[in-house]
Amino acid sequence: MDTNRSTTPDDLDLLSNSEADSASIPRNQKASYEANTDVQRWLREQEAERAGTKPPFNPSFLAHQRDRPWVLSSLETFYEDDLITDVLAMVKSGKEATVYCCAAHPSTGLEYVAAKVYRPRMFRSLRNDAVYRASRPQVDAKGREGRGAKRWNATAKETERGRAAKITAWIRYEYETQRLLYDAGADAPRPLAQSGNAVLMEYIGGEPGTPAPLLREVTLGREEAAPLFERVLRNIELWLACDRVHGDLSAYNMLYWDGAITIIDFAQAVDPRYNPAVGDLLARDIARVCQYFARFGVEADAAALASDLWLRYLRADL
Ligand SMILES: Nc1ncnc2c1ncn2[C@@H]1O[C@H](COP(=O)(O)OP(=O)(O)OP(=O)(O)O)[C@@H](O)[C@H]1O
Ligand SMILES: [Mg+2]
Repeated sequence: MDTNRSTTPDDLDLLSNSEADSASIPRNQKASYEANTDVQRWLREQEAERAGTKPPFNPSFLAHQRDRPWVLSSLETFYEDDLITDVLAMVKSGKEATVYCCAAHPSTGLEYVAAKVYRPRMFRSLRNDAVYRASRPQVDAKGREGRGAKRWNATAKETERGRAAKITAWIRYEYETQRLLYDAGADAPRPLAQSGNAVLMEYIGGEPGTPAPLLREVTLGREEAAPLFERVLRNIELWLACDRVHGDLSAYNMLYWDGAITIIDFAQAVDPRYNPAVGDLLARDIARVCQYFARFGVEADAAALASDLWLRYLRADL
């Protein structure tokens, strides 16, 4: 991995025909050389290196992005914690979050990582759906956890700070769910860290410009469809054994790479122990999976699969 991407003088056209030593550059050329932003950045990095400190986090990819300050502040902790070294490309910008491909710090053992950054808008429109609200541990303005809707309602007249605390807790829950399921052996990206409004995880795909396609964008061969379908069902069963239902499972939240499926986006995951209505979400998840695979000749009775799984869950027989 090239962790010095766009930071070495070798990359800079201005230096390609001259010595790096600024003393050898004529006066007027020196002025333009020092005015070049890449050069300035490189000089700052050299200075920081000499002083034994980290250069400031300033990915050149973000230079012309409108939401640069927001993304910078969202990802800075990952940089400070030696998890990422740079931001390389935008993977996708969705309704609530934008996903970036970042260069991973060597300590992670990965080349690239995906950073999911929730937008400021998310902080205004927290999903208020009753099923989701009642299906997770809730937190109050101070981030304290409490069961059921009582605490949630008690803070209806909440402050900005209380609201932000709740949303951060919501994002933390997404991260912790992914961690729980990944550790149990689920086909999810390896989660690395969560900080405020951002989640860092393994990147699925090839080079930064070629992320894995969504399953809905892929035409499966008949041969591979049946085993992949079985594999997704095993995942659903495994999650349930961990007291989780995805809650938003469809071919939009499954990535396909190298013949394998990776399931993403646990933002709406729910815990059946908090709310028995979760059984309906499980049925919807399974119905959508069956619908997708039916196109490739996989026959399955979604309702029967869902009720069998739910009954086994209730009997603690998973
Ligand atoms: N780990 C990853 N590796 C590669 N690409 C990813 C990864 N995680 C997410 N993506 C890409 O980013 C997109 C958005 O991620 P995700 O589904 O988690 O967020 P979202 O809030 O649901 O966004 P949307 O509003 O688009 O549904 C995905 O559709 C996928 O293309
Ligand atoms: Mg999604």
